[in-house]
Amino acid sequence: MDEGAVRRRKSGAAAMDNAMPYIVSHSWEIAMNQRDTTPSPAEPDTAAASMQALWMPFTANRAFKQAPRLLVAAHGMHYRSSDGREVLDGTSGLWCVNAGHGREPIVRAIQQQAARMDYAPPFQLGHPLEFEAAEALSAIAPGRLKRVFFTNSGSESVDTALKIALAYHRARGQGQRSVFIGRERGYHGVGFGGISVGGIPGNRKMFHGALLPHVDHLPHTHDLEHQGFSRGQPEWGAHLADELERLVQLHDASNIAAVIVEPVAGSAGVLVPPRGYLQRLRSLCDRHGLLLVFDEVITGYGRLGAPFAAQALGVLPDIMVTAKAVNNGSVPLGAVFVREDLADTVLDAAADGAIELPHGYTYSGHPLATAATLATQRLYADEGLLERARRDGLDLHFEQALHALRDCPNVRDIRNLGLMGAVELHPRSDAAGQRGHEVFQRCFELGALVRYTGDTIALSPPLIIERAQIDRLADTLRQALRETR
Ligand SMILES: Cc1ncc(COP(=O)(O)O)c(C=O)c1O
Repeated sequence: MDEGAVRRRKSGAAAMDNAMPYIVSHSWEIAMNQRDTTPSPAEPDTAAASMQALWMPFTANRAFKQAPRLLVAAHGMHYRSSDGREVLDGTSGLWCVNAGHGREPIVRAIQQQAARMDYAPPFQLGHPLEFEAAEALSAIAPGRLKRVFFTNSGSESVDTALKIALAYHRARGQGQRSVFIGRERGYHGVGFGGISVGGIPGNRKMFHGALLPHVDHLPHTHDLEHQGFSRGQPEWGAHLADELERLVQLHDASNIAAVIVEPVAGSAGVLVPPRGYLQRLRSLCDRHGLLLVFDEVITGYGRLGAPFAAQALGVLPDIMVTAKAVNNGSVPLGAVFVREDLADTVLDAAADGAIELPHGYTYSGHPLATAATLATQRLYADEGLLERARRDGLDLHFEQALHALRDCPNVRDIRNLGLMGAVELHPRSDAAGQRGHEVFQRCFELGALVRYTGDTIALSPPLIIERAQIDRLADTLRQALRETR
């Protein structure tokens, strides 16, 4: 090692000595692994690592590295932190580990596939698992959403859906349809397409000059005056969908390709659609010949007590974007569901032997990711997880536990649907978002993982959660709220 490297390594180690208990206690991991039939993973060489090289995503890097929070193992409903504490997972990782952590059939499927065939090129070649995985997903998809295009993430799935919408219109001779309608406060990942149709100002500002040119936005549906402390879908606000009529008049229907919304806006703080709102959007899209795209990256795979929000809320889109829980967050994979006739229009428009859609990724349908998808979907089916939130009345227990926090300090609103919920706090007058961060941090110290966006705390636990664990999550949040000024 050269001198500079030694110096960098030393200074990294010194920073860590100040900042964190970095050496991991492995006794818990070993205990967890003994429950598994799988071999125990190699222990990470965390003691030697510096934190400087990694530029962390959506993270306040400098602040994080002063006081890091590290997770080193996970099993069932719990993470293990680097200082040896058990942390109840109240967020399914990042809305993705719906079957809980370290599930043996998924682990085994990935291990076996890695040994059998690590990679196969997806262009002009295929492998059996990707076809099987597409069939399995197609079988649980609603209506005619039976064609599946694989990507590696939610962001890629969103951009794929937008491109398929354009390809469809062009294939039927309406190539002038190039306008996309998104919604304020919508989150559709971080690709240029996704941030353009997305409506979170902080995610757009820095990249303003490079956003897609023909995009407009519906107003968001969140209104505390009319919807405060709603349990399930708010009664007020269906009329907000009529704003689409105004945008259609402005841009002319003949120029609009698609409308894209999250059925429940997740990242903006769990904004539940008013009763009848999505139905109204659907009928306006039908009236004007616009495609309706649901971004189900969060709501897909059981979050609302049905495979997809489309089924839970009774509205069918033309294209459905998914990722995350498709394989329990185990190997990156996104899946875009497309209406059969729409896909056929694109496929049939191309000359014989020509590539119909010039789009795809090196890792589309990756063998490990599709093996994990098949194992996950079998597990969801075997354990009835996609319906569990509703079937066992778990969603109601969750609702009651959450709304019982109403009297805690600084609570401005509580809302929920299925197994997703949020507690919105009054922001501090001098520092918006800080109270949310402190509550998140305190919950973590107390042994529960919650998520925060600004001053809204979001919860989305794995679908295997038990009632007592829901109570524990709510109790931890209650204590953190009481202790935060
Ligand atoms: C609704 C929605 N769409 C898209 C994305 C982007 O997914 P990814 O981070 O996998 O690119 C997310 C991520 O949270 C999401 O919530």
